[in-house]
Amino acid sequence: MSTAKTRILIVDDEEIVRESLAGWLEQDGYTVATAADGFEAIAQLKDHEWSIMLLDMKMPGMDGLTVLEQSKTIQPATTVVIMTAYATVETAVNAIKRGAYDYLVKPCDPEELSLMIQKIVREHDLVRENETLRRALKRDYKFRDMVSKSAVMREVFQLAKTAARSQSTILVLGESGTGKELLSRAIHAESPRAEGPFVAISCSALTETLLESELFGHEKGAFTGAVVRRRGTFEAAHGGTLFLDEIGDISPKLQLDLLRVLEERKFCRVGGTDPITVDVRIIAATNRDLKKAVAEGVFRDDLFYRLNVIPITLPPLRDRREDIPLLVEHFVERLAIEMKRPVEGVSREAMATLMSWEFRGNVRELRNIVERAMVCASGAVLQLDDFKLGDNPSVPVKVAPASLEEAERRHIVAILDQTEGNVSQAARILEIDRVTLYNKIRKYSLRAPETTK
Ligand SMILES: Nc1ncnc2c1ncn2[C@@H]1O[C@H](COP(=O)(O)OP(=O)(O)OP(=O)(O)O)[C@@H](O)[C@H]1O
Ligand SMILES: [Mg+2]
Repeated sequence: MSTAKTRILIVDDEEIVRESLAGWLEQDGYTVATAADGFEAIAQLKDHEWSIMLLDMKMPGMDGLTVLEQSKTIQPATTVVIMTAYATVETAVNAIKRGAYDYLVKPCDPEELSLMIQKIVREHDLVRENETLRRALKRDYKFRDMVSKSAVMREVFQLAKTAARSQSTILVLGESGTGKELLSRAIHAESPRAEGPFVAISCSALTETLLESELFGHEKGAFTGAVVRRRGTFEAAHGGTLFLDEIGDISPKLQLDLLRVLEERKFCRVGGTDPITVDVRIIAATNRDLKKAVAEGVFRDDLFYRLNVIPITLPPLRDRREDIPLLVEHFVERLAIEMKRPVEGVSREAMATLMSWEFRGNVRELRNIVERAMVCASGAVLQLDDFKLGDNPSVPVKVAPASLEEAERRHIVAILDQTEGNVSQAARILEIDRVTLYNKIRKYSLRAPETTK
């Protein structure tokens, strides 16, 4: 930090001391202010930020020790250096016990003072650097409305951003509630088609005939009830993105129809004969294991290959537990505004418990649980009890009862698995140092294949 940005407050009842110290420090380039007694010092601490305070111990009115104590609550980050006459070094030692950084014996030696200030400034710089580093390591990843803290999701976001720029078909895979639709919307919003429409259709919600007419539209009189001509979702998505949700559930006939559209980029409305050409980008999603469905013969392999151009898999929430606190905060923040409830956060205890839950319903279930807790909550901070109220069916399935050690072991295995055996990365996520992690790996005799890939 530049010396001018280092702000030093000199507190002494003797004008001559204040003036000389201020003079020296200003010469060194620091920004300096003075206070003639404890009350003035407190006022200055309340008004401005100070990197360092040089504080006389013996002052009439309020003594240095009291100012020191108050400064710890007003501005704990200020480094306090005590100034005292030789006779009261004991007081200085006492002050150090109460949080002063060091002491200078009066009359102060300019050289000594200068060196001490330089040392403090260096230490401040180091603390700041560490903080920046720590913050960088713990950085949140974002992709439009999606948030995450995990390395796997960061890769998902990167792949999705790259894929967004292309026109290729994307297949989003993942368990229910992992964010497949949200990711698809984010891809659309990030793509050159963002100005165009995003049309979503769930392939499992409709019967074959209805879905067919939903997708391709129909001509007037195509079937009973088709009293007017209707455009389908393919036409509605022209110039934009068509999101085919639950693609694993479509019938063999529609699989074939879809394959044709993907191959020829043309189709006819139901009951029609004129081919219609559309410019749409397809994003398909499913929570099914499509490869297995292909192997079992229930899903066409040619359609699978057409869809599987860029596959993106969203991992289940239980495999990225470090996302839970961030997601909880994200939902609390949003829901507080939506629901107009003055909720600010979640207690430590409640957060720790949430992190141990299974979340079969993944992020959606977590969101529902937070929402329910917010309805029940009485205070500004959600408590564990708020999450346990009622017999709601979405109450999470807890992990099998386990000892603390067993839970720790499992968690370490999960994180190592996620970092693909990278111990440094795992240690960072776990917020412990590498040596500690190595010790734990040894303690739990984690086998090599589990820890290193
Ligand atoms: N990373 C994330 N950040 C913020 N919100 C998320 C994230 N992932 C999911 N959500 C939220 O979780 C809920 C479920 O997401 P979404 O509907 O996209 O899941 P899905 O995989 O399509 O589920 P399903 O298979 O059941 O249709 C939504 O409310 C969504 O906004
Ligand atoms: Mg969905």
